[in-house]
This record gives sequence, C-alpha cells and structure tokens, in this order.
Amino acid sequence: MVAVSSSRSPLVVRGVIRAPGDKSISHRSLIFAAMASGPTRIRDILVSADVQATAGALRAMGAEIPPLSDDFSVNGRGVASLHSPALALDCGNSGTTTRLIAGLVAGLAGCVARFEGDASLSRRPMRRIAAPLTHMGARIDFEGPEGHDGLPMRVHGMPLSAVTVVNTHASAQVKGAVMLAGLASGAGVTVQEPERSRDHSERMLKARGVQLSVSDDGVVLLPAQTLKAVDVVVPSDPSSAAFFAALAAFADEGELRLENVCLNPTRTGAFDVLRRMGVRIDVEDQRTIGGEAIGTLVVFPASLQATSIGGAEIPRCIDELPMIACVAARAVGETRITDAGELRVKESDRIRAVVDNLRLLGVDAEELPDGMRIIGSQASLAGQVVTHGDHRLAMAFGILGAVPGNRIAIDDPGCVSVSYPTFWRDLSQAIGSATESAVVEPVIASGAPPLVIAIDGPAASGKSSTAQWVAQLLNVHHVDSGAFYRAITLLALGTGVAPEQWTPDAVMAHAHRVTWRLTERSVLPLVDGIVQDEAMRDAPVTRQVSRVAQMGAVRHWVNDQVRAAGAATDIVVDGRDIGTAVFPTAALKVFLIADPWERARRRLIQRLGHRPNDAEIAEETEALVARDALDAAQSAPARDAITIDTTSVTQEEQVERIVALAKATRDRLRGR
Ligand code: S3P
Repeated sequence: MVAVSSSRSPLVVRGVIRAPGDKSISHRSLIFAAMASGPTRIRDILVSADVQATAGALRAMGAEIPPLSDDFSVNGRGVASLHSPALALDCGNSGTTTRLIAGLVAGLAGCVARFEGDASLSRRPMRRIAAPLTHMGARIDFEGPEGHDGLPMRVHGMPLSAVTVVNTHASAQVKGAVMLAGLASGAGVTVQEPERSRDHSERMLKARGVQLSVSDDGVVLLPAQTLKAVDVVVPSDPSSAAFFAALAAFADEGELRLENVCLNPTRTGAFDVLRRMGVRIDVEDQRTIGGEAIGTLVVFPASLQATSIGGAEIPRCIDELPMIACVAARAVGETRITDAGELRVKESDRIRAVVDNLRLLGVDAEELPDGMRIIGSQASLAGQVVTHGDHRLAMAFGILGAVPGNRIAIDDPGCVSVSYPTFWRDLSQAIGSATESAVVEPVIASGAPPLVIAIDGPAASGKSSTAQWVAQLLNVHHVDSGAFYRAITLLALGTGVAPEQWTPDAVMAHAHRVTWRLTERSVLPLVDGIVQDEAMRDAPVTRQVSRVAQMGAVRHWVNDQVRAAGAATDIVVDGRDIGTAVFPTAALKVFLIADPWERARRRLIQRLGHRPNDAEIAEETEALVARDALDAAQSAPARDAITIDTTSVTQEEQVERIVALAKATRDRLRGR
C-alpha cells in the first residue's frame, strides 16, 4: 500500500521529468528488429513488465534478444528464422504483446503458439484479432471456457491471403496484428478504421523500407516485403508523461518540464484536453527523431474547467482517460467522457473502476454506457483506491493524492511496473524537491527518493536476519529477494513435473502468479494473491530453490520485482548480487563476510537448536566452502561495498554498525 497525501499548504512542483520509453514503440522496436535481417541497436527502450513479455515471446520463437537495457542490439535473422515456441507464451498483463505477436504467428505458416496471460489479460477480448486473422486463413482456437474469446488461445500460422479489414473501432493493436500477419506471410493487406489509431507501426515500417500507403481509405500494405534493420532511440511515453502534466496542473506554484516526450499527433489528445481545461502547456525544443516528433513540454498550474471529450479525440487519449477523470474531479463544472466504451476492456473495466474509486473518495461521478460524467469540487478527497492491478489507475489516483488536503491510499502500487516502474520515485521527486507539503508515504517521508540499502554476502553470512533487523530499526521495508525464488519454486512444485525436468521457460510460466504487497514492515510476495509463507519455507521448496535461482530468466524476473519495490519505498534488501547486478546504484552496500567455520557453527546452531560439536562443524564447513565455490560468480562484493567481517562480532554489533552507516547515508542524501 502506498498512501499519497498532502497537507493544506501550497503544492509547489519543480524540476524535470524524463518519463521512460514509449511502450508502443518499445514493443514494436523489438518485434521489427527480430523480423529484420541484420543488427538493430535499440536505445532507451522501456524496461517494464509488458515489454519484457514481448521480449520473452520473441526469444521463445528463436529471436536473439539480450536482456533489455538502455542500449543493446538485436541481431535479426529475418522472419523465416522465427519458429513455434516450445512452451506457451506468457504475455503477463500485456494486450499489445498478445495481439501483435498473435498477428506475427498467424502469418508464419506451420508456426503454432499458445498464448497465456494473467487474470486481467485473460478477460480481454481477442475476437477482434481472431476474426480478421481467421479471415486471412489462419486458425485460432480459444481454449478457455465455452464462449470465452480470450486467453488461453492457440494460434496456428498458415499461408495467408490478401484482405481488406474494416474495423468497427480504431485499434492500433488490431491494425498492427493484421499488418504483421501480412508481412510475415507476404500477403498484401488493407486496414480501414473509423478514426485514426496510433500510427507507430506505419511510421516504423516505412522507415524500414516497407511499402505502405496511408490515406483516408486506410493503411495499404503491399505484398511480399522484407524489413531493413534500422536503429531505434525510443522517446518518452506521452501516456506516462501525461501524469506529470496533471500534477503540474494541480499545483499551486512552480512548473514541470517533461523532457523528450513523443509528440506524435495520434498520441497527444490528453494534452489538448488539458489545454481545453485551462492548463498552459508550452512546447520547446521540438525535433524529429526516427520519424517521430519529440519535444519538451512545460506545464504550469491551472485553474481547471470541466470539458467534454468524445468522438475522434478518444483514440488520441484512450490510455490517459483515467488521469483526465481525476483531473476532472478538481475542475469547475461537469466533465463528460463519451464514445469511450473501449475503456471497459482495458487492463480493468476503467469506466467502472474509475467511477467507483472517485465515488469512494467523495467525488460526484456516474458511469455512462460508453464513458462517465464527473462533477468537480475542491473538497478534500480521502480513501483507499482499489486498482484491480491496473497500472494507469494506480498512477492517476497517485497524482490526485498529491493535491493539498487529499489523502489517497493505493492498494497495489507495484502494478506500475507494467509501464512506469520508477513512477513513485519520480512523483516523490516532483513534489518533494521544492516542498514538504505533499508527501508520498511510505515512499518518502521527507521529499527524497527512496533509499536502498543492499546487503550481500556468501551463504550463511546472516544476510537475511541482519537485513530484517536493520530494516526494523530504521523503520523501513525489508525485501527478502530469496522469498521470490521460493514463491516461484513453490508454484513449479505444484505442477508435479519432476524438478530435474524443469526448464527456465516452464518455471517462468508461473511468474505472473507471484505479486507483492507492502505490509507494514516488509515487501511480501503473494502466490495467487495469498500469503504462502509457511509452504514457501517448507523442505521441498528449500531443496529445489537453488535449482530455480540458477536460472537466468528467473533471476531477471526476481531482480525486476525487487527493483520495483525499491522504486516504491525505502528498503533494506538482501541477496546474492544485490549490490552488483540488482541495485548497482544503491545508496549503501554492505558485504558481510565471516570465516567458514564460524558461518558453519552459526548455521548449525540455528538448524539444530543446540551447540554443535567440532566434527559436525567441520562437516558443515566443507559443505559451505563447496557452496562458496559454486556461488563465486554471484558472490563478489560491489567495488563500493563496505565489507564487514562478522567472525568475531555479535549480530547485535553488526546490526548497530549497519544502522549507523545507513543513518549517515540517509542524512547525507537528504541534506541534513
Ligand atoms: C496500443 C494500442 C492501444 C492502447 C494500448 C497500446 C498499441 O490499444 O490502448 O495501450 O501499442 O498498439 P488498442 O489498439 O486496443 O486501441
């Protein structure tokens, strides 16, 4: 739970926000790189759960995609190199992954893939892509309950024929799926839509030498085309930057500069709506990179007026409507959103969820079949928002919480990892840099970014118990990264497949069932939404957890979870490679070492509950030294870690030292 609250004193915002990479462009940059022949260098991609799902799906189909980072290259080997994945594709929460990759698979004759996703994604309609792809000649089977046109779904690629698809509503995902099917199979396609949906596919494909025309008659893609590899620099996502435009509009003083924002006209509807509501938004430093307009938006506090939003404007601000609804809650008059029935089939039913949450906070709001009406007021708003795991709801209400006088708790702050993993940090910076009147708790109590204290060390060095104790004394959250490995091991055991046969893909297929919550003192992993602490600590899990922890894909995933927690709140985190790979910029890194004999003795006392004899210690020492050798690659201290030799100090003394170091670090960072 994150509570965003603010006192009644003025909200002052200042500074520069560089929102992470555009989600739509990030997905497409990976897909097009994998389909092209030759190397594509990709910079500033959005490293988030949704984009990881696309990377994972492409890897499973044979594409060589390295771990995602700020700057990496994909060595494309052409569409023909892509093949059926051995296991189901786990699309997590990502509709774009599902629909675009389904289009690609449909056009690869002989390729078969099963698509799975989390509960939210499994509810989302897939008939909209299945209908045109089937019309082209592909086969799509829905494998869920009778009549359900969602995941799980199996797509059978076939030789496809040319089609004209007339969409009843604008959707870039449907348009993209059909174009990808056409490209993969060599069939020509025409896609018509009632309004223009976002056009990143068209722009990126043209840049890659694909012949297509875009006119009022739709998008026409010629048959039999190949893609050139073209480097990408991903601009910041306007849908993410828009939250901070809203924050600036809510403020009493100051301004926010939103840097590097993609200003593609099919994406900037939310800024037009905000302008109509009275917000001044200046555009500076406008330029074109990779066929996309990019610029800096400078947004100022405003006295907000209600407005109406509908028609062709909706696709241009579809993802920002929850945020606009929250802005409307503070505007004078009644705001009406219509023609937005699509909101009901996003990550949650965003009409119902937004209206329910607004009402719960005390706002006068009402559902319409295809939108909502909201009557704004200046009353203080308070309550606990239920996000249904929907990232855009968490962020929209997080921003509303920063309005002076409001106090809004968000039940599932971690869900922002889908599109904006550092959102809470950026919010705390934007409101904390110039004022202490608005605070994001427990993200920060003082206007500074979350503090990360990383504790590392070899097996049985006491990392976990020390970290827990340090977190308690500092009054911050403890993250036991090992608990995430245990959670996914528990799920793998539940399949009944013999552990010797577990593959990284099979284990990772369960990752979406593990989520986390902030409890008062810890970041707690949940399995299918339930605390499973006892089962996770049981012997069967203990026996298999190191097998799972050696899998690169699993380590990646755990690291992402832990980083998302560290972006949300102050943490003390322990585990292997925490200070090196997971939090290389942690404010304080501690590396605990102890003589193997002493570690063996401590471990045996804990295990046996009595003092071990020398023979027992000797045997355990040998086992530990062997384990150290196995772990050597992961157990090196970071260069800037403070090593504490605990051989001859008590745990109490060692905790005291770390707490003193942490307090000094915190004071230095927060300028006290
Ligand atoms: C997206 C298209 C939009 C948008 C989604 C991303 C894309 O969905 O809401 O977040 O990258 O193609 P629709 O295609 O369903 O309109």
